[in-house]
Amino acid sequence: TTSFAGGGSMRLWSLLLLLVCLPTLILSEDYSDVTVIVRGSKTIAATSDEFICATLDWWPPEKCNYDQCPWGKASILNMDLTNPLLAKVIQAFSPLRIRVGGSLQDQVVYETPNLGSPCRPFTKASSGLFGFSKGCITMERWDAMNDLFLNTGAVITFGLNALRGRKQIRKGVWGGAWNSSNAQEFMEYTVSMNYPIDSWEFGNELSGSGIGASVGAEQYGKDLVELQKIVDQLYENSSKPLVLAPGGFYDKQWFAKLLDVSGPNVVRGMTHHIYNLGAGNDPHVANRILDPQHLSRVSDTFRDLQLTVQRHGPWSAPWVGEAGGAYNSGSRTVSNTFLDSFW
Ligand SMILES: *[C@@H]1O[C@H](CO)[C@@H](O)[C@H](O)[C@H]1NC(C)=O
Ligand SMILES: *[C@@H]1O[C@H](CO)[C@@H](O)[C@H](O)[C@H]1NC(C)=O
Repeated sequence: TTSFAGGGSMRLWSLLLLLVCLPTLILSEDYSDVTVIVRGSKTIAATSDEFICATLDWWPPEKCNYDQCPWGKASILNMDLTNPLLAKVIQAFSPLRIRVGGSLQDQVVYETPNLGSPCRPFTKASSGLFGFSKGCITMERWDAMNDLFLNTGAVITFGLNALRGRKQIRKGVWGGAWNSSNAQEFMEYTVSMNYPIDSWEFGNELSGSGIGASVGAEQYGKDLVELQKIVDQLYENSSKPLVLAPGGFYDKQWFAKLLDVSGPNVVRGMTHHIYNLGAGNDPHVANRILDPQHLSRVSDTFRDLQLTVQRHGPWSAPWVGEAGGAYNSGSRTVSNTFLDSFW
């Protein structure tokens, strides 16, 4: 039996509580009928209506993990944006948040008047971050993407290149200020075309010790203040997209410092990534996804991030910006087999 009182988000939360309770009941040794009563008199958490999210990534077909190259033409730069099935699935999730981003995001340049170099796609480059050169998105492609987004009512989070202008100073560590000029021109173009952007996210997996590259929290915080200034210049108050950061793995000191330095009302969502099943080719993925104790461990991260936000940036909120289960593009015999569980 359930008793509901209050609005939609509370209803949703109550439902989630029920779902989360089930596995424990099923797994316990004594099977018995139980009655769960949810008193909806107090909201303990609220979830956005646009919490269902999919990432469109930048990986070209040459991206390989282990012995597989699974990406094909699934990238922002080469996917068939006019495929009717694609539009239908986006609409079926309505509202679906689409985050444009991923590992190569911090090597993407935008074809704007003062780009200063020809607009060329990603190519394999052993010296480049993640084994690729910089890659450019044409405004023609950006227009085509926005046609799809507008036609399907998707809610867009766009991840900006946060390494632009920086230099590698040590292995895996990048320093120097962000050069915002290419991003600013790209945002200006986006505003001039009236393409609705729900949120501009800054960087991908550069937090803490980083995946591939990292940037200090102090510098990152200063750069976010600059990004917020650009947003303030380009948008009216009533239609201002949110600034999100850092789109990376939680690191207590780094996240706290970022909020301290960027200050009030800059970062409105602390986006963090979850890959709690391990690497895609790990034979233990199947055991982990079926082990409630393993899955519950991630709650420590949620609790810690919530405390960090409460103490250092109550104007912000924790967001899961990307959660793929198993990282490195999944794997044959894992991602292409059927296995499901409660998360
Ligand atoms: C930023 O990059 C642009 C080229 O995109 C360049 O013209 C400009 O001088 C750079 N700004 C700084 C401060 O380095
Ligand atoms: C926008 O908001 C700022 C700060 O909240 C305020 O000072 C300013 O007057 C607002 N501008 C407009 C056009 O409403």
